[in-house]
Amino acid sequence: MIETTPQHLSVLLNAVLQYGFPDDGKVFADLTFGLGGHTKAILERFPTIRKVIAIDRDAEILEHSCKTCDDQRIFRFQANASDLKAILPLARENFVDGILVDLGVSSYQLDNPERGFSFTRPGPLDMRMNTDQSFTADELVNSYEKQNLVKIFRDFGEEKFSGRIADAIIREREKEPIKTTDRLAAIISAAIPAQSKANSAIHPATRVFQAIRIEVNRELEELEKFLDSAISCLNPGGHLCIISFHSLEDRLVKNFMQKHHKGCICPPNFPVCNCGIKPDLELLTRKAIFAEDQEIAANPRSRSARLRAARKI
Ligand SMILES: C[S@@+](CC[C@H](N)C(=O)[O-])C[C@H]1O[C@@H](n2cnc3c(N)ncnc32)[C@H](O)[C@@H]1O
Repeated sequence: MIETTPQHLSVLLNAVLQYGFPDDGKVFADLTFGLGGHTKAILERFPTIRKVIAIDRDAEILEHSCKTCDDQRIFRFQANASDLKAILPLARENFVDGILVDLGVSSYQLDNPERGFSFTRPGPLDMRMNTDQSFTADELVNSYEKQNLVKIFRDFGEEKFSGRIADAIIREREKEPIKTTDRLAAIISAAIPAQSKANSAIHPATRVFQAIRIEVNRELEELEKFLDSAISCLNPGGHLCIISFHSLEDRLVKNFMQKHHKGCICPPNFPVCNCGIKPDLELLTRKAIFAEDQEIAANPRSRSARLRAARKI
């Protein structure tokens, strides 16, 4: 358990208030509830809301959020964002008027060494958002073959030295299984050339830790699954607002919104539309919205956040 009061600064709050919910909406779904910072601000800005469906994969943070964001209109569910469609009947609703997804981890999770997300705090190699899941970072680090490690570090972490780091991990785990975040961070750091470390503004283990977290929690598959059902959960006029922290996530969101904004999939040389697919999203943000310098100075985590929003037609 964390000893100090856990804190999480909600990112891009003004943009969430601008695009996250329609003025006359009644039901809001916050699918990455965390400590409820965004919901708290949404409830203040839109007092007509009668219900909030609050979803998080992490039972511990959901329980703790009762202390940080308490309101009788909030109904909490431990689930994946992609479970929203199945949860609607449990919440006695058919549709919602706004969906917010703020991907990644909360500072509450990062700051708790027991959860194993942080390279700066010694702890077990865990990184599961949902602790009921059996697959952990320990299993990944100590069992994945070299080519899988390289692929994950490169694709999910954009790590230039993926091969060297994978070699170092395999060498070290043959001596003794890698069980803790600090040992893994030291192995990664030793594998990166000194010159590169000296020129970098971030901790040498940042990218690899991010990559392992994305793989352990199957974050991209989960986002794709959520997007597949998102529009069907919205009332017409309902808003979909997604904050991502990684270019792969953002690409999925951008392509999804553009596809549904465009509708017709007929080849451009067809004189008339043959497919009959109509647009079902209006884009509220033409380009992704990023944090301004002031927010980045106050909350460095917001540096890589980008928000896209759309309205169901
Ligand atoms: C960045 S935090 C959310 C912070 C929140 N918006 C706030 O302002 O307090 C992300 C939260 O979403 C949860 N999470 C991430 N991906 C999820 C998913 N696919 N389904 C459900 N919860 C998810 C994490 O456990 C974490 O608590």
